[in-house]
Amino acid sequence: MSKGRTTLRVDKILSHLGLATRSDSKKLVKQGRILVNGLVIKDSGLQVDPYHDKIELDGEPVLYREFVYIMLHKPAGVVSATEDNRDRTVIDLLPPQFRAFSPFPVGRLDKDTEGLLLLTNDGQLAHDLLSPRKHVPKTYYAEVQGAVGDAEAVRFEQGVDIGEGYVTLPAKLEVLERVGTEEATVSRILLTISEGKFHQVKRMFEAVGSKVLYLKRVSMGALKLDESLPKGAFRELTEEELASLR
Ligand code: URA
Repeated sequence: MSKGRTTLRVDKILSHLGLATRSDSKKLVKQGRILVNGLVIKDSGLQVDPYHDKIELDGEPVLYREFVYIMLHKPAGVVSATEDNRDRTVIDLLPPQFRAFSPFPVGRLDKDTEGLLLLTNDGQLAHDLLSPRKHVPKTYYAEVQGAVGDAEAVRFEQGVDIGEGYVTLPAKLEVLERVGTEEATVSRILLTISEGKFHQVKRMFEAVGSKVLYLKRVSMGALKLDESLPKGAFRELTEEELASLR
């Protein structure tokens, strides 16, 4: 991505990247541990171009970026929030160098829902992905009570009333398999919705007389959960993944 000329204070750059507080930066400068374009600097307030000037800390290059884009495999038991008084949050799963960017979850998954959650500090991208006008498709894998099939697929295609008079937009149901006994069947399904009402998938299955037993988001727009990520693990998006979301 081409960046225009920007300048920022060296201490701001280091603190944005979670490398040093402002007062740490002062000390680092005093100790001669910060170089800009090969020269030891004397002032932690020096204005530099973080994209073009070469900044080094203890001989290591300092690579600046404004935004982070993180794919998290959310486990059950953590809440999709940045802070919570009772529960662990998805942000608590990140190490300090990523928390330094102040990322937030793009949309919410319920505490017991697993799967793909995008975390970023890019408000514009988050806004675009969540905008109700954009109808970004989200696909969920679910295990639901009973033998769901064509009848439910038709109802979801037509839209179901999930309460308070709200009728869902057309959604696509794909039944993967049915397991269990005749009296206690569980259907494994994929459901793609293009909106994000509170508890939407659970309420849609309730509307057709079923119940979600397990729920996992597998994709959001063009972004697919990397199944090699264990639950609770994360990685940054690749350039291609990020481009596919824009
Ligand atoms: N629908 C739900 O019911 N729960 C989620 O976490 C996501 C979609």
